[in-house]
Amino acid sequence: MVNPLTLASLNKLLTLSLTHFPHSLYCNMARANLLPLLSAAVLLGLSAVVSGHNITDILAADPSYSQFNDYLSRTGLAGEINTRQTITVLVLNNAAFSAATAGHPLSVVKSLLSLHVLLDYFDNTKLHQITNGTTLSTTLYQTTGTAHGNVGSVNITDLKGGKVAFASAAPGSKLDSTYTKSVKQIPYNISVVEISAPIIAPGILAAPPPSSALNFTALLEKAGCKTFASLVSSNGLAKTFQSTADKGLTIFAPNDEAFKAKGVPDLRKLTNAEVVSLLQYHATAKYLPVGTLKTTKGSVDTLASNGAGKYDFTVSVAGDSVTLHTGVDSSRIADTVLDSTPLSIYSVDSVLLPPELFANSPSPSPSISPAPEPASAPSPSPKLAPSPSPLPASPPAPAGDTPAGSPADAPSTEAERSTSGKSDGVHVKASAVFTVTVTALSTFVVFAVCAI
Ligand SMILES: *[C@@H]1O[C@H](CO)[C@@H](O)[C@H](O)[C@H]1NC(C)=O
Ligand SMILES: *[C@@H]1O[C@H](CO)[C@@H](O)[C@H](O)[C@H]1NC(C)=O
Ligand SMILES: *[C@@H]1O[C@H](CO)[C@@H](O)[C@H](O)[C@H]1NC(C)=O
Ligand SMILES: *[C@@H]1O[C@H](CO)[C@@H](O)[C@H](O)[C@H]1NC(C)=O
Ligand SMILES: *[C@@H]1O[C@H](CO)[C@@H](O)[C@H](O)[C@H]1NC(C)=O
Repeated sequence: MVNPLTLASLNKLLTLSLTHFPHSLYCNMARANLLPLLSAAVLLGLSAVVSGHNITDILAADPSYSQFNDYLSRTGLAGEINTRQTITVLVLNNAAFSAATAGHPLSVVKSLLSLHVLLDYFDNTKLHQITNGTTLSTTLYQTTGTAHGNVGSVNITDLKGGKVAFASAAPGSKLDSTYTKSVKQIPYNISVVEISAPIIAPGILAAPPPSSALNFTALLEKAGCKTFASLVSSNGLAKTFQSTADKGLTIFAPNDEAFKAKGVPDLRKLTNAEVVSLLQYHATAKYLPVGTLKTTKGSVDTLASNGAGKYDFTVSVAGDSVTLHTGVDSSRIADTVLDSTPLSIYSVDSVLLPPELFANSPSPSPSISPAPEPASAPSPSPKLAPSPSPLPASPPAPAGDTPAGSPADAPSTEAERSTSGKSDGVHVKASAVFTVTVTALSTFVVFAVCAI
């Protein structure tokens, strides 16, 4: 059950530990019989991040990026960068960063930072070999649901004389930020390069209206969640959302297909109080942007949680796909509808069924397949990386090495919906295999290096 991805990550983690531990330290550790400790450290890393890079660690090596780094963590973007593959971070030194962000609320700083995270791999070589000298790249900002038109993309132009310039892709933007140096590359997973000045998109520095001023019904309808929107509005939940929105709120709104799926319980058979609990179960009084959601451990309480019932769920991540598990069924995050600190709204592809209401349902969805859920295989298409703009992600050269080729055994939606009990067994088994493999591999690597 060890899939190729996890073995590859293992390999990478070992390579990383080798580059991070000085040769002498590594050999001394081996001599001092500290190998089990090292293996444990490698294992810990494995369970925390599948992709293997840690932007916080990468930037910590240079104190001139401390502010940029600090805000990547505070906004939850660090977590998102760590769980994505094929990414470029355009970093600003402290002077440039503070000049751009001084006096702005966290939500604005977050928008600005997400415009500096490109969903493609650009290192020094690739930046200087852009076909026709200019290209557009989609950014994380495009995935927040707040970027309209080209505002979520960045224009990269190879100017004459070896200079590469960056600007917002919005018409009329000036190419006044330039490439200054390369900071760190892990081909073709993450590239970190420094640029001279912030990239500012039109309107990005304007503080968003307070979340309490939003029309939730209209927002949900626009996101393809009309049924949920009408239930929320007819059961008085819109007011609850409104009053919680400024203190931290995340809504998981089932899309209209979710309500049409086979096996969805007949809501008319529930009491009014039960319908309200079911709707409250689809929201939590916490701000959970994607990066935070992906690194969530344990169970998440919901607005329905109270003395009479836990009404919580757990979260699992496979590649870029995030799945919520209720204990009765599972639901995948389909799209980010809105990410505006401290409010997140996602659409999800199944109605979340809390055990408190549906534990006795014989089978909530007759179409559920009993296939076990692979522990960490990537989804065939990164669900959280919608590219609303039709920009092609230019493939890094050489094409043979791109991480784009997903393993053929990536989970299907049906597999994702498997019952949680079954996948728990798989997780346990898989980690036992990891322990043995990691210990064996690290012993081998350490001795190979010390023999040199
Ligand atoms: C890039 O990430 C993938 C998936 O985690 C991994 O298989 C590959 O080894 C990584 N590449 C490098 C050079 O670390
Ligand atoms: C990344 O590195 C930072 C600093 O070393 C650490 O605090 C954090 O837990 C790491 N994140 C992950 C997901 O391993
Ligand atoms: C480069 O320019 C040529 C001629 O204008 C055009 O046909 C081609 O599509 C361009 N290539 C890219 C990648 O934009
Ligand atoms: C990038 O901006 C420059 C200057 O405004 C423009 O000439 C170029 O066409 C833009 N590139 C793309 C791919 O839109
Ligand atoms: C919110 O939007 C809905 C649907 O578009 C509309 O019917 C309703 O009047 C709006 N509410 C407010 C307070 O503007």
